Amino acid sequence: MKHFTSVHDVDDPQALMERALALKKLPPEALLEIGRHKTLVLLFLNPSLRTRLSTQKAGFSLGMQVMVHNAGQGWQLEFEEGNIMNGDKAEHVKEAAAVISQYADIIGVRTFPGLKDRAADYQDAILKQFMRYATVPVVSLESAIRHPLQSLADWLTITEHRPAHRPKVVLSWAPHPRPLPQAVANSFIEWMKVADVDLTVAHPEGYELAPEFHEGTAVEHDQRKALDGADFVYVKNWSSYHDYGQVKINSPEWMITPEKMSLTREGRFMHCLPVRRNVVIADAVIDHPRSLHLQQSHNRTWAAAAAIEALLQPQN
Ligand code: CP
Repeated sequence: MKHFTSVHDVDDPQALMERALALKKLPPEALLEIGRHKTLVLLFLNPSLRTRLSTQKAGFSLGMQVMVHNAGQGWQLEFEEGNIMNGDKAEHVKEAAAVISQYADIIGVRTFPGLKDRAADYQDAILKQFMRYATVPVVSLESAIRHPLQSLADWLTITEHRPAHRPKVVLSWAPHPRPLPQAVANSFIEWMKVADVDLTVAHPEGYELAPEFHEGTAVEHDQRKALDGADFVYVKNWSSYHDYGQVKINSPEWMITPEKMSLTREGRFMHCLPVRRNVVIADAVIDHPRSLHLQQSHNRTWAAAAAIEALLQPQN
């Protein structure tokens, strides 16, 4: 694997998911050899709690040296080609990525979308510029349009709690006061398409995702109908793709409540976090023993460990 930015970078996603589960069961001393004498540099152009700490922990667990740089602070990087750099951008990504590659065996990058210019965001230009100019593998720590480490961790979690039958998984939109990226939803759909699950996406009209992500998945505008018989209920807000970056409706009707969970097949609640209680999800659902949100955040470490191990393998 050359880079880890989406499921499409992975030759055998099922094998990667199973390797993450296997790494989770290995004794700590066995893990330490995997990344010994290797260095992981994590660049955050945007804030993070789980991605930052779980990826650092994965690196430490694999015996790596880990350096974290808040690339969104201090001087700003230039990502455009050919610009006259006489403004506030002090360094071009061309130099920055090449320099960081001298210190790192793998570079992680987190970069959120601006949610103003859909065409620009969906080019995922900042991540691609790092991939272009780095001379080492790049791992996405959430880009403008995808969050693959989260999706891999979600798949681990579903696998660990999978019923005997092919599970029904519902990705449900939920309200939120602020416009949020579509990355988690896009990525979850992409990974669930290669998992052996029956996926339904539930959202109010106007919250259709980008065609390249939602094509081929069942869409339901009646949330209660979607939840009927669900084994896993993955809840996430996203802003509009078509009226790009807008919060079109914010109806509390779409919040996940105990009454809605009663429609499921003893369904498990999932959320990538952070979550706004009693806006996205009622306390009684997230605090219920069937909620898997903490198992998901725990599995972030093992998803990252598996991706890092794969990136450390010699390239053909
Ligand atoms: N789920 C997730 O990516 O969390 P952070 O934004 O805290 O990294």
